[in-house]
This record gives sequence, structure tokens and C-alpha cells, in this order.
Amino acid sequence: MFTFKRILLFALFLSTSFAFIHAAEDITIVVSTADNSLVFKVDKDKKLRQSYYGNTLKNEDLKEIQSGTIDAYPTFGTSYLNEAALRVVHADGNTSTELVYDSYSTRKISDDVEQTEIVLKDAYFPLVVKLNFKAFLKENVIEQWTEISHTEKKAVTLYNFASSQLTFNQQNYYLTQFYGNWAEEMKMEEVKLTRGLKVIDSKLGVRATGYAHPCFLLSLNDKVQEDAGNVIGGTLAWSGSWNMTFEVDQLENLHVISGINPYASQYSLKPKTVFKTPSFLYTFSSKGSGAVSRNFHSWAKQYGIYRGDRTRTTLLNNWEATYFNFNENVLTGIIKDAADMGFELFLLDDGWFGEKYPRDDDKAGLGDWMVNRKKLPNGLGYLVNESSKNKIKFGIWLEPEMVNPKSELYEKHPDWVITQPNRPLDLVRNQLILDLSNPKVQEHVYSVIDKTLTDNPGIAYIKWDCNRIITNSGSFYESPETQSHLWIDYVNGLYSVMKRVREKYKDVSMMLCSGGGGRIEYGSLPYFDEFWISDNTDALDRIYIQWGTTYFFPAMALASHVSVTPNHITGRTTPLKFRFDVAMSAKLGMDLQPKDMSAEDKEFSKKAIQEYYKIRGVVQFGDMYRLLSPYTSTRTALMYVTENKKEAVVFSYLLKKTISGNTQPLILKGLDSEKMYTLTEIDKDPKSYSWFSPLEGKTFSGEFLMKYGIRFTLYNEYDSKIIKLTAN
Ligand code: DGJ
Repeated sequence: MFTFKRILLFALFLSTSFAFIHAAEDITIVVSTADNSLVFKVDKDKKLRQSYYGNTLKNEDLKEIQSGTIDAYPTFGTSYLNEAALRVVHADGNTSTELVYDSYSTRKISDDVEQTEIVLKDAYFPLVVKLNFKAFLKENVIEQWTEISHTEKKAVTLYNFASSQLTFNQQNYYLTQFYGNWAEEMKMEEVKLTRGLKVIDSKLGVRATGYAHPCFLLSLNDKVQEDAGNVIGGTLAWSGSWNMTFEVDQLENLHVISGINPYASQYSLKPKTVFKTPSFLYTFSSKGSGAVSRNFHSWAKQYGIYRGDRTRTTLLNNWEATYFNFNENVLTGIIKDAADMGFELFLLDDGWFGEKYPRDDDKAGLGDWMVNRKKLPNGLGYLVNESSKNKIKFGIWLEPEMVNPKSELYEKHPDWVITQPNRPLDLVRNQLILDLSNPKVQEHVYSVIDKTLTDNPGIAYIKWDCNRIITNSGSFYESPETQSHLWIDYVNGLYSVMKRVREKYKDVSMMLCSGGGGRIEYGSLPYFDEFWISDNTDALDRIYIQWGTTYFFPAMALASHVSVTPNHITGRTTPLKFRFDVAMSAKLGMDLQPKDMSAEDKEFSKKAIQEYYKIRGVVQFGDMYRLLSPYTSTRTALMYVTENKKEAVVFSYLLKKTISGNTQPLILKGLDSEKMYTLTEIDKDPKSYSWFSPLEGKTFSGEFLMKYGIRFTLYNEYDSKIIKLTAN
């Protein structure tokens, strides 16, 4: 039986709990870009839930969103069913963490950038987790990272420390992952996610990529399409080991957790210090993967790579031309030829240094950054001068983080390398890694670059290489208790060196290289103008490698070099025009000995380079559209369109001979349907009959070109065409 008192108490309970629910459900946090909304709600238990991510929602509709039940940043101890973003063992040994919402704030950083910080606190321990978001409005990109700190009595140990979790609630999920190996980077494969956990990760320590790239496309409901469908693109800005988990749960929700690889990397966090995760970058489009790529490209040009508004220079690199076998005469000859062909910079690669142990192959000398006077009696300054006499710039190769055991540096500082005591040295490419968790080593690595640049004024470009991965992961600098910190402290040490170099040498261009494309990620790219995506310069293989890469990284920064045939890695022979046409679709360069070219090939190259200058602005600053994929079509094609839609360039390649001719139309994209465009073929091969000729100089409307397209036949394996469109 209800007594009056009981009814009163019950009414009181209802009113307070309703008031509480109401108050809590009032908290809706929206991270918005021009076309996307990422919505968080705080539920009645003060739990932060990610409630929506997709096309922009109207303000008045936000109240209709249900909070959902999935934690925005799940923790071990209270979210048991699925993967945890955060796992902490507290100072008193407690293994659980329960985060509740505390507060949030937003601030405008510029007209284009808004930052949101959501503060979560453990319900019992003095542990704070800040989820940070930078929303890039025009570019529709969100950058998310997490900061963890505490004031417990002693250090806590972090076992999982993700940058972010995103959740989705759809019928089907298709994941495109990017994978590869040395010389076959950035291949793509789409898989349907099924119940359970799919992990993509890397444990290489000093580089992000190698066998897997920290990038993915996630298509909701249907397989990924280029110009339609809901697609999310994500990539982690971190130059070390990383991990991304895709977990379809018991209710068909998908949880995507991204961050540093927690594998063997537990981190002891002292009170009042902040553990900051790297940024996870992501974008959503309901117009397919093409729009996802364009979002990343325009974001990268403004925020993600160094000076993304500057035209990238063409260069000739002597690596495939000479390898270690050169002298001053040989290089002076290459410099003259490079200038004569029209290149803007000569890049001197590996092998120019080492006194006691000359770097004549990859077995010795790495770490001893003094000029090898036998090869270069007049030093680097002479080559800088020779370049400037020939009106081109000079660049230099460095691998400042590494050392050969056969070097003066190793003899002096054997305790600077990463290795486990009482184990044999584990060499990869005959070299070891300098331990950048050690501030003294950071100082040394910085001074290598600083000294090379100050001793040789006029060096305009650095190729920064990194040719091995961490094994034997012991540090003489870290204490026995913090050995597992090495994986994280190394990368942060590396960034502090890169930052210092950038602060002092603002005008020096830098290429990011790591045994080919081992470091293609947005952790390092803010310090670098461009990157070397692969040691494989075979034009056919490059079509695939570059195709995959440009889902996340803009062509302006993608160095692509014409080299000799048969190709040094694949042995394949392809026409010079094909090699140029592939390299011209990104940032053109060359990697061969000009002396070995026929006069005819040299003449062709001279013209091709001049042709590249005519389209360089469109390729480097235009919007990229994929027309025909090499994965599904024998003829592959892509194009670039300037922002004002007045110019465009189309690249098309035939991958296999087609006996009766490949007539596949190129249905163009991104043009102004009202504008009239005149078609001109670029980089023509004077020797071969062009099936494009009937269209040469003809004018068509953008609408026609985007509906009917350009139609011409290609017959032979490695036939290629570059077509420039100019609006009248
Ligand atoms: C690996 C790079 O990818 C190559 O381009 C070249 O620079 C070599 N290292 C030099 O050792």
C-alpha cells in the first residue's frame, strides 16, 4: 500500500531524476565543418556518447538525436565488451577507468578552423582526459587527438591510449586498406567487415609505413564508389608504430579506434604531465571516395604539408644514375646535363661522405658526415657553385638518424644506438638506428643537418632518408622501467629535431624518404615539402602506387622520377613518353645518367620538361578527379582541374595491348558545364601516329565533355596521352 510519504518520495525521485536527465540530455556538442556534423551527447549517467557523424544536420534537428549507448572514448574497466581506447593501471593498482563528462569549450582559431575540447574525468581518480577536435570548415576535415593527465600520488601506467574512436551504425561496412612492401607501396584492397575485430597495424618503430599504411577508406552500406556513397577517409599523423581496429559488435555497430600501436609500448605517466596522442585526421563525404581525396588534398595544401602553396621544383637525382660510384667530374657532368635539359635542381644522393670509412657502398661510413675528399676533392661547396653557374639549385641526401657500425661515430658512441645489451647487433642494410629518445642524440642529429647547411651555404634541398626499422628495441638512455617508452619517445625526439631544422631553415626544401615510401604520413609532412613514395620507378607499377597514394596525399608533393629501362627493380621496358607521362601526373623528376641517353631521348626529355612547366600549376594546385581505375580498367585515367575551372589536364594510359583498340571514353569531371574548352595534346611523341589528332584544337562544352567525354583509341601497351583543356 502507498503511504503519502512514499508517494511524496517517489514524486521527488521522479522530479529530480527527470530534471537530471533533462539537464544532461541538454548537452549536445557539435563539431561542424561546411558539410559534416560530428555530434556528441551526454546521457543521463553523464557518459559522453558519439551520436552522429555524417552530412550536416540542421540546428533545430539536433535535439532529435538520440545519445546512443557507445562511449565516445571507451575505457577498460567499464566498457568490457569491446576494444578500449584507454586502459590505465592507476597508482594504487586499480585497473579500471570510468570517464564521465565534465565540460566542453570551443574557440575559433581562424575563419576556417574551430577547436573543440571536451573534458572527461574519472569518476573516482584524479585523471583527466581531454578529447580535442580541430574542425577545418572548408576542407571538411576533422583532426582529433587526446590528452591524458592526472594528479594521482604516483605514476599511472597507460596500456592503451588511442587518438580517437569513431562509431557507426549501418547495415554493412566496407573497408579499403592500403598495404604493400618495399617497392610496391600503397596497394589497395576492399574487404567487407564481418562480426568481430579487424586490425591493421604496423610495428616498425621509426616509420609508419612499409607493409601497411596508416590510412583507410570506410564505405557505409555499399562498396566504395568514386563519385557516390557515404565514405569516410581516415589517416593517422604519426611516424612510428600505429594501430587501427575495426570492430563490428553484437548489435552491428562499428567501432573504429586509431592511434599509436599500444603493442609493447606501455607508458608510465608521472603526475601533472600530459600524454598527448598524435592526431587522427578524417573526413566524411556522401559523394564517394573522390570527394574524400579532394578534402584531404585541399587540407594538406593548407595545413598538412610544408608550404603547400609553393610550386614544387623539378629535379634530377643521381641515385639510379650512379649509385655510390661517382666523383666530382661525373657529378659536374650530370649537373650540366640536368640544367641543359631544363631541370631546376640537382640532387646528390647517398655516397658523398665518410673519411676513415668512405661510404662507397652501404656497409660503411653512415654517420660520418664529412665530405669524402677522394671523390669530391673540392667539397660540396664546389658542387653548389657548379649548380649555380648552371643556373640550377643544389640538394643533398642525408640519413641523419642512422649509423653503420663501421663508422667513426659508432666507434665514439656505441651507446647511442638502439640495441638490446647482451644480444648481437641486429643490422638491417648494415646499419643501426641512433636513439632519438636521448636528448644528446637529438642534439647530434640536429647538428649534422645544421653543420651541413651552414658549412655549405646555398644548399637548397635535403632528401632526408631512413632506411631501417626498429628491432632489438633497447635504449641505453631509457631506464629499465621505461624501456617500453622508446617507441614513443623516439618519434617525439624525431619531431623535435625536424621542428628545429624547420625553424632555422625555412627556405630549404625537404623531401621525406624512408627506403622508398616508409614515412608517408601527416606526422612528418608538416616539416617536408614533398615525399619519395617508392624506390620502384617503373612507370607501370608507379600508376598503381601513385593511384593509392593520392587517396590521401596530394600529387604536388609526390615525387615521381623518370628512370632508365629496363627498370632497375622490375626489369620492365616501357617507352620514354610513357615514363614521362606517368611522372608528369605528379611532381616530375629524373633518376638516370643523362650521358647514357641517346640524343633523341635527350631532346624528347627537354621538350617534355618544358611541357610539364605548362601544366605544372594545374597538376600541383588543381583538384584531382579519378576517371578510370587501373584496378578495374585496361585504360586508366585521371585529371586535374584548376579552382576557377579554366584549365584542366587529363592523363590516360593503356596498361595492356588491345588488339582491336581500346575505345573506352574518358568521361570528364569537375569542369564548368557552361564553359567551352579547347583540347590540345601535350608531350606528343613525334614518332608515333596519334589517334587523338582528330580532336586536336577542337572546342567542346564542359557539359558535353562530362557527358559524352573525350573519345579516341589507344592500341599499344603503354600508350599514353596527356590532354590539356583550356577554357575560352
Ligand atoms: C633509399 C632511398 O629510397 C633511395 O632513393 C636512395 O636515396 C637510397 N636510400 C640511398 O641509400
